[in-house]
Amino acid sequence: MDSLVRAGLGAYETPDRDFVEQAFRDVLRRPPEDEALERALAKLANGTLSRATFLHELTTAPEAARIRELDDAVALGLAARARGERLAWLRAPAGTDERVVEIPWVLSRLVSAGRVLEVGYAFAEAPYLVALLRSGVELVGVDLAERDVEGMERLVGDVRALPLPDRSIDQALLVSTLEHVGADNTGYGLAAESDPASRAGALRELARVLRPGGTLLVTVPLGEPGDQGWFRLDDVRGWTRLFASAGLFVEEQEAYELGAEGWAAAPVFHADGVGYGDRGPAASAVLCTELSAGRLRRLATPDGLSRTVRRRLRPFRHRP
Ligand SMILES: C[S@@+](CC[C@H](N)C(=O)[O-])C[C@H]1O[C@@H](n2cnc3c(N)ncnc32)[C@H](O)[C@@H]1O
Repeated sequence: MDSLVRAGLGAYETPDRDFVEQAFRDVLRRPPEDEALERALAKLANGTLSRATFLHELTTAPEAARIRELDDAVALGLAARARGERLAWLRAPAGTDERVVEIPWVLSRLVSAGRVLEVGYAFAEAPYLVALLRSGVELVGVDLAERDVEGMERLVGDVRALPLPDRSIDQALLVSTLEHVGADNTGYGLAAESDPASRAGALRELARVLRPGGTLLVTVPLGEPGDQGWFRLDDVRGWTRLFASAGLFVEEQEAYELGAEGWAAAPVFHADGVGYGDRGPAASAVLCTELSAGRLRRLATPDGLSRTVRRRLRPFRHRP
């Protein structure tokens, strides 16, 4: 049999319903809504839609573009982790939010095994959670909000008073979460607070549950310091001071900025006039930091960023 004809026949082996449901799962990573399913089935049946056009419409939908951005970020991060490479000098397209930088940065530094605490998982992007679940670590999620995720231990709790014993966690991950602690979290179905000072308490609490040698991977938005109500925006100096106030040490730190060409590392970041949402859909800049507790070196200082970036980045392959 001619290979093209065989493949063409294969494309019609499955009934329309299975084809549509599978395409939704592959492209949008979710089942179709009943209405969308019935509409597609009716059009496929009456000949006003072909399978090729259906796939084209699905893959060019804005929702698919977001899945692709996140999938690219996850693929980059997990592959680097498998090679033992800590990603730096990342680039990502304009028009995207900070997750496209935070996710690969964090995943490439994810421990190879052990107990990992994801703080603020309840509103995390599904592809990021899937990556963590596929990574082989023992995953524990903590959030004041609830979300049903199989395959991880879920704790409903406050990061400022963790329901965990001392020294029980190998690594903690906070992806765009620390800035929301003590803020107005009504957007997440939680209470409105106005206690940004409690972020230091959260970091001290995380240091308590870390095993010796364990680390925190923290990403936070950068910009002109100020209380935004639902989160706190700060510059490099402000965040680094906060880490120091909780007795944490900067092991590695990198700032990223969103410019006309997209996301790029910003070893020298000027926060003046940089606001949230000014340059894209969310943060205009982001700080990615690895912190450790209890080590008497590299105490977080306001100039910690450039020092650690200069020292750390020498062996990295991603430098332009
Ligand atoms: C912006 S979302 C986090 C985004 C998510 N980590 C990601 O990867 O996209 C902020 C999260 O912090 C959680 N949160 C806010 N204050 C908290 C607290 N004190 N303790 C635990 N979780 C908190 C909220 O419920 C929400 O899920």
